[in-house]
Amino acid sequence: MSLVDPQRRILSGMRPSGRLHLGHYQGVLKNWVRLQHEYECFFCIVDWHALTTDYDEVGQIAGHVMDVAVDWLAAGVSPSSATLFVQSQVPEHAELHLLLSMITPLSWLERVPSFKEQKESLAHKDLDTFGFLGYPLLQAADILLYRAGWVPVGSDQLPHVEFARDVARRFNHLYGREPGFEEKAEAAILKLGRKGAKLYSSLRKSFQEQGDVEALETARAFLREQQSITLGDRERLFGYLEGAGKLILPEPQAMLGSAPRMPGLDGGKMSKSNDNAIFLRDTPDEIGDKLRRMPTDPARVHRNDPGEPQRCPVWQLHEQYSDENTRDWVQQGCRSAGIGCLECKAPLTEAICQELAPLQARAAEYEASPELVRSILAEGAEKARDEARDTLVEVRQALGLVYR
Ligand code: TRP
Ligand code: SF4
Repeated sequence: MSLVDPQRRILSGMRPSGRLHLGHYQGVLKNWVRLQHEYECFFCIVDWHALTTDYDEVGQIAGHVMDVAVDWLAAGVSPSSATLFVQSQVPEHAELHLLLSMITPLSWLERVPSFKEQKESLAHKDLDTFGFLGYPLLQAADILLYRAGWVPVGSDQLPHVEFARDVARRFNHLYGREPGFEEKAEAAILKLGRKGAKLYSSLRKSFQEQGDVEALETARAFLREQQSITLGDRERLFGYLEGAGKLILPEPQAMLGSAPRMPGLDGGKMSKSNDNAIFLRDTPDEIGDKLRRMPTDPARVHRNDPGEPQRCPVWQLHEQYSDENTRDWVQQGCRSAGIGCLECKAPLTEAICQELAPLQARAAEYEASPELVRSILAEGAEKARDEARDTLVEVRQALGLVYR
């Protein structure tokens, strides 16, 4: 059994909605590219999640999955640093989802905010389905299956991560107490070596008898450093610190990014459904066109009318892409009518195309060899499955589903 350190492990997921845009890049992918070097990362294209709302448009899913995979790779998410895979290629997600469904109160699902919100925003669809109601639980299974301690997501996903924590806590509470837990924990202490055992025991005592929270933290840090004990023993020792049972499914936490909101071509949030996006694979001509057509301060009807950047969506892009000199030039030129709007947009086109050039070169390579992309995803699924199976062994055992 491999040693899992939840604190070092990340899982995140993205729905296959087709080609990705600058909002995905600035808000999500740049962050993943950084995190893949600091954590053990699992990035999942969640095709089953697409079915929860788009069960009537299944013809597009496979193409969308490929588009997402190519764009991840183009953005620099690297199969040598992170595990990239497709949810449905790891059927263990479904098994954990099913097992967790047995202990998930309906009321928890009904009060997840996205349940009502999406039903309202997608009122044209019949979402009175079992699958749609269970969507947050499927997401919880995605996370808990890998015992990931961290989930990088946008703030809209906070309730879902919180939900996953609640489910993990309930699971551990119901099934965490294995028979003979105390004896097993005491035996595990001895495996820490003489000095280690002494340290662990005294820290545990300080916490349990004096409520010394620092001692608890020190003990946890100490356990995390232990390379030679088994996963099972380590988790027993974590649980034993607090007198609880064994932690089977660690509670994940959201990791919120600090990226500023990416404005779309109309000043609203960039998204495909708002039809205001610049896609990572848009050509320089398409990008130039989109920017030329972008609305500006309505006060600038004529070239000689002065404008106000604060009222102009183009300015929001300058805030994201331009250096101070250029921004000063925009502010002055706009307010004095010294520059025209097309002139104002030119450096943006330049900056965006330049930022995207290396991504587009990589995207072209992957587009030219879909076989390579498929094999990267297949390999990712194999790696993910190994981890998923380890977790399920423990979960089945906890539920008494052992027949050998
Ligand atoms: N629900 C997420 C979204 O709509 C996608 C998702 C599915 C996810 N499973 C996940 C995100 C697991 C993080 C972790 O964006
Ligand atoms: Fe907007 Fe620039 Fe035109 Fe001013 S000059 S209105 S900031 S596009």
